[in-house]
Amino acid sequence: MDIYSIARAEIVAMKPYVSARNSAAADGVLLNANEAPFPHVDDAKWQRLALNRYPPPQPALLKSRLAELYGVSESNLLVTRGSDEGIDLLTRVFCRPGQDAIVECTPCFGMYRIAATIQAAKVIDVPRLIGQGFKIDFDHLEKVIDEREGVRLVFLTTPNNPTGDLIEREDLERVLRACEDKALLVLDEAYIEFCEAESASQWVKKWPQLVVLRTLSKAWAAAGVRCGTVIADPVVIGLLQRVIAPYPLAATAIDAALQGICGDAVGRQQEFVKLVRRGRAELQAFLSKCDWIEEFWESEANFILLRVPDAGSLVAWCAERGIRIRDFSSQPQLAACVRVTIGSKDDLQALKSALQSFGTHIAGDVT
Ligand SMILES: Cc1ncc(COP(=O)(O)O)c(C=O)c1O
Repeated sequence: MDIYSIARAEIVAMKPYVSARNSAAADGVLLNANEAPFPHVDDAKWQRLALNRYPPPQPALLKSRLAELYGVSESNLLVTRGSDEGIDLLTRVFCRPGQDAIVECTPCFGMYRIAATIQAAKVIDVPRLIGQGFKIDFDHLEKVIDEREGVRLVFLTTPNNPTGDLIEREDLERVLRACEDKALLVLDEAYIEFCEAESASQWVKKWPQLVVLRTLSKAWAAAGVRCGTVIADPVVIGLLQRVIAPYPLAATAIDAALQGICGDAVGRQQEFVKLVRRGRAELQAFLSKCDWIEEFWESEANFILLRVPDAGSLVAWCAERGIRIRDFSSQPQLAACVRVTIGSKDDLQALKSALQSFGTHIAGDVT
């Protein structure tokens, strides 16, 4: 598949900016980036991280650790400011304003649509089948990729936010075949660590039309660090590199990201994933006993989507008790739905008690 033929011609033709750190080594007498020679802050962290200097554009140690973590080669990855930045870069590189389109399967993560709208790309929705547990309508999706002009990016999420369901391997392969020579399948695996299914990260070696998004924001408990990884064919990575800012990652973020995925943090991540899975099973068992809850969807991620009699009142009820849950009721197909994150044991206890009292409250209103 010729990736260049589906990228924006201006990006392919553009001579990319070459930063000081990209054009010369970062040692010796550094007079090539108009930096200050020393920091003004007398603090060990400022000295250790040399915060007076620009950081490496793609830090070697972090890249090599992420490549090891995701089982791919370094040429297959680009480190970004969270997956949000990956989504934005892909849309800017592959969608011509006013002409090309992205495809999404709602309900899904809202940033695909936002990135497309900012780029003036069209958004084609292939709604999920609500009566079938929000399964993706793969026949419809395949037809859209085959027949609609200008489809460049197909965003799929596994497990999906906010429905929590997984995509089967055969279905992914079917979409990948449909995308051949036309579009990229962007598979967002932000929550993949919380389920038993294997990541498709390593498939990028076989499928140049596949892009996988991974993040440290969820199972690695590092949302504040803002570190995501785009995993793709080196041609896709090279094109994104033309558009990404010269120094996208702050030195403090690079340092924190490395701490977050090395040493003791690895064992803690595994414990955390177990905690979330236990909490999810416990909450699901609890929800199935709440007869006032109309429906909830079994989740493979660190959240559960539920349909309740009055989403606004439940969100307000929880807020009065200091618990913030997310109201999805204004979104297509999600009338009366809220999403709750699986937090700590104490968080879960607080949530269960708020749900219990809300149930009693509405039962009292009815009688
Ligand atoms: C499906 C999905 N993708 C990406 C993101 C954003 O990830 P990041 O924090 O890496 O930007 C989120 C955040 O909630 C998400 O739900």
